[in-house]
Amino acid sequence: MPKIKFTIITLFKETLEPYLNASMMWKAKENGIAEFNFVDLRNFGLGPHKKVDDTIYGGGDGMLLMCEPVFNAIESVKKEDEDALVYLPTPAGKIWEQKDAKALADVATGDRDISELFENKTKNPRKPLHIIILCPHYEGYDERILTLVDRKFCIGKYVLTGGELPALILIDSIVRLIPGVLGGEMSAEIESFSDEDNIEFPQYTKPADFRGMKVPDVLLSGNHGEIDKWRESHSK
Ligand code: ADE
Repeated sequence: MPKIKFTIITLFKETLEPYLNASMMWKAKENGIAEFNFVDLRNFGLGPHKKVDDTIYGGGDGMLLMCEPVFNAIESVKKEDEDALVYLPTPAGKIWEQKDAKALADVATGDRDISELFENKTKNPRKPLHIIILCPHYEGYDERILTLVDRKFCIGKYVLTGGELPALILIDSIVRLIPGVLGGEMSAEIESFSDEDNIEFPQYTKPADFRGMKVPDVLLSGNHGEIDKWRESHSK
């Protein structure tokens, strides 16, 4: 059974697949740690043109995602798993941080109780943590859609054309923290931002001298006590 499952509701699955089918996300899937599913919002569109958006009451440029296709899409996933959480990428959300990714990774591995993050939620220990990500497109969404949303998140103070890139960022930042995804289990831990006060130190690989730029001698010394001290004092 995977530790974590994502269901991405999107109109543009083809923009997500290449990333999730490569490198660490692919490895997480191959190793049975993560599962990625897609729901094509267009399948829930209305009428012969499978309409998913419409103009804005009161006026305004562009179109908004309509309630009905979105409610039906989310409900179709919840019918299979009523415990699934719904995440919505939006510039109006809370800024997504390393500690948020870590908290969800810990819930996925069973090291943290979901009630610490969501008062009214429980997680069945026999089921993977399941996160639905609804990717809005166009100008936005009908406000009533928020009644289905557990968390709004924002990946930075700029506006993108849709929720697909934020969805990938959320997924990558959580999945890489689950043991078995990264090579060395330590690497996620010692890395930048793993806790807010501990930002990474400079690192080097071969050769020891590249065009006259030399690796600090202490790192070549094999003296781990001194190396630890150097790293500590050079942490940014
Ligand atoms: N949708 C558009 N811009 C976004 C952002 N910066 N973060 C999350 N979702 C978004």
